[in-house]
Amino acid sequence: MSTPLLALQDLTVAFTAGAGGLLRRGRGSLVAIDGVSFEIGRGECLGLIGESGSGKTTLGRAVVQLVAPRDGRIRFGGIDLTALSVRELRPYRPRLQIVFQDPTESLNPRFTVEEILTEPLRLLRLGNPEGWRNQASHLLDQVGLPPAMLDRPPRYYSGGQRQRVAIARALATEPELLVLDEPTSGLDVSMQARILNLLRDLQGRLGLTYLFITHDLGAVSYLARRIAVLYRGTLVEIAPTRELVAHPAHPYTAALFDALPRFVRGRDPVVRPPLPAAPLPHPAGPRCPYALRCPRALDRCHRERPLRRLLAPSHEVACHNPLGGEG
Ligand SMILES: Nc1ncnc2c1ncn2[C@@H]1O[C@H](COP(=O)(O)OP(=O)(O)OP(=O)(O)O)[C@@H](O)[C@H]1O
Ligand SMILES: [Mg+2]
Repeated sequence: MSTPLLALQDLTVAFTAGAGGLLRRGRGSLVAIDGVSFEIGRGECLGLIGESGSGKTTLGRAVVQLVAPRDGRIRFGGIDLTALSVRELRPYRPRLQIVFQDPTESLNPRFTVEEILTEPLRLLRLGNPEGWRNQASHLLDQVGLPPAMLDRPPRYYSGGQRQRVAIARALATEPELLVLDEPTSGLDVSMQARILNLLRDLQGRLGLTYLFITHDLGAVSYLARRIAVLYRGTLVEIAPTRELVAHPAHPYTAALFDALPRFVRGRDPVVRPPLPAAPLPHPAGPRCPYALRCPRALDRCHRERPLRRLLAPSHEVACHNPLGGEG
């Protein structure tokens, strides 16, 4: 088997509670990502779902080296990025990019579109400044926008156009891996579909690998061949999309699906009440992190943290009492 493009091994990220600062070691920290492992093959799209606060953005930021992990490994093309110095990391930065949810926040309002698109090239000192304007118009073309947009700031354009600009900027450094952090959730439904089409098209044309973070089961089913489910910083289930949607094994995955609009089964979306807020602080000790909320919890779940195990080909779950496991 070829080396996966991205491999996370026991990745742990902790924040100083409330302060916004990052701890390498220490007390009073909030463990936002707790020992997460998965791989993404070249050209693959892995979906990442989980309720608000489960750590999806933190995981994405750690992958693109915007947040330093406390423990664990991030291997990119077989190279352990966590072992590299800032200087050694430099050549890898262009190859990993992130697109955020809200282009209004992520695009500098004082810059023109051209300045936005060429900023990553300036910062990473890529290419020849004389060629940057041409590169910027080529980037616009790749995301279906006209070159005439280069000279104005993003406020002149619609939400959908701005998100295309954000995608074009992420492409400026010719990345291999894109983290897409809810790239369509700020847009109306028809615009969401167009951006998803664009992302799928770009993936095919440029051979991109995606980590696609979303709340939208329809979007993730459209783009991702496999889905990972995050619950309070732990990966509770990972499976091929169809298998996961048809047979969720972790009680949390099933509850999450019930809470999300169901575009996926071809019905009109049904809006369901959100899951109850997770109790804080982070459940310490040897129990399953979901045990206190789980309708299927056994005594064992309060004593022993479940390890991830294989249920079916490529379908792994961290649960002592998975759904469908009775027979
Ligand atoms: N800079 C920070 N400093 C301290 N805590 C943080 C920081 N960023 C995130 N957190 C905490 O880490 C946890 C995970 O947050 P994160 O934003 O990754 O969740 P998420 O799954 O992306 O949520 P959402 O779906 O709302 O975007 C939360 O408890 C959050 O409060
Ligand atoms: Mg987020």
